[in-house]
Amino acid sequence: MILVTGGAGFIGSNFVLDWLAQGNEPVINLDALTYAGNRENLAAVDGDPRHIFVHGDIGDFELVSRLLAEHQPRAVINFAAESHVDRSIHGPEDFIQTNIVGTFRLLEAVRAWYGQLAPEAKNAFRLLHVSTDEVYGSLAKDDPAFNENNRYEPNSPYSASKAASDHLVRAYHHTYGLPVLTTNCSNNYGPYHFPEKLIPLVIHNALAGKPLPIYGDGQQIRDWLYVKDHCSAIRRVLEGGKLGEVYNVGGWNEKANLDVVHTLCAILDELSPRADGQSYRTQITFVTDRPGHDRRYAIDATKLERELGWKPAETFETGIRKTVQWYLDNQAWVNNVTSGAYRDWLGKQYGANA
Ligand code: NAD
Ligand code: TYD
Repeated sequence: MILVTGGAGFIGSNFVLDWLAQGNEPVINLDALTYAGNRENLAAVDGDPRHIFVHGDIGDFELVSRLLAEHQPRAVINFAAESHVDRSIHGPEDFIQTNIVGTFRLLEAVRAWYGQLAPEAKNAFRLLHVSTDEVYGSLAKDDPAFNENNRYEPNSPYSASKAASDHLVRAYHHTYGLPVLTTNCSNNYGPYHFPEKLIPLVIHNALAGKPLPIYGDGQQIRDWLYVKDHCSAIRRVLEGGKLGEVYNVGGWNEKANLDVVHTLCAILDELSPRADGQSYRTQITFVTDRPGHDRRYAIDATKLERELGWKPAETFETGIRKTVQWYLDNQAWVNNVTSGAYRDWLGKQYGANA
């Protein structure tokens, strides 16, 4: 049994689906169902006895303590977070609450429960904290990619709150001996990505005939990894990672935002051409830049590759094509999450407690 937090979000739901597709070990999935959490992501495991969904907050010490005592998981994997940089600029409070206070309370509940385990269960237990490359700050054009020894220099309220959570996780290892692992991954893309982030937003807006907004000059660089490769990296670190260590996760796929959008337009032009025969590129619109916008992220994943033998299965070209196809095939999902009807769907499908 493992306990996953945030398993109704983008990466967490991909992780839960892959986990249950690849083995029979059950998952307790604790998720607060914020705007980013969506039970529909988990429709494929609805009714599956190996998946226990619990609607709740990682900051609820009593609830987490009860789940740990009841299910005795061999691992906790913490995906739960507020994750959108732009939202953190408009309102940092939720980021402080979930990413810092919530992680702290989760750590406290795990620490209290872990302290009472028998030695064998203690040896087997792991807490894996899922974090981001954004904690390292911004790179100049010719800087080497971030490795695990880079200084933390977070620039947005989001990355600062994730950095704080990483430090707490580290401290609980050094001070209390909690068996922790931390992963810092680059930008993910793939199925179930909430359409407020660049890639799903562009696909959605393109098909809806709306502008494709590019912040500033569009030359900011992100290092893109297909979400299922991030999930395989997490499984690998859980299995073989050294306690207390940090592993950077990335696929060596640095791309400027404008190039990503051009690629999306080209694939859409091929798979779902506009009725008027024009390219989706004509919808590109340059808009005011994000304040404090980090110029470049790039991950050096050598440690994970060398020590644990992990490699991504997708290149950017194969992964982005799969992603566009997934959005074309799952327009109902997109319509539900964007119309707010998915909340109605929750009530209909799961009743008042959903
Ligand atoms: P997401 O916003 O899609 O999902 C977050 C999930 O956490 C949602 O289901 C939400 O309901 C849940 N949640 C939020 N607050 C909660 C709380 N207090 N208690 C319980 N559940 C809560 O985010 P994501 O993109 O899937 O990211 C998952 C994790 O991976 C985050 O920790 C994020 O920092 C990290 N990460 C994301 C990326 C990326 O590109 N998306 C890259 C690297 C790391
Ligand atoms: P985003 O998906 O929000 O991820 P992050 O900020 O965590 O990297 O944005 C990815 C990049 O795309 C980032 O440089 C901001 C840029 N961007 C746009 O140019 N236009 C948009 O509408 C959005 C949402 C993002």
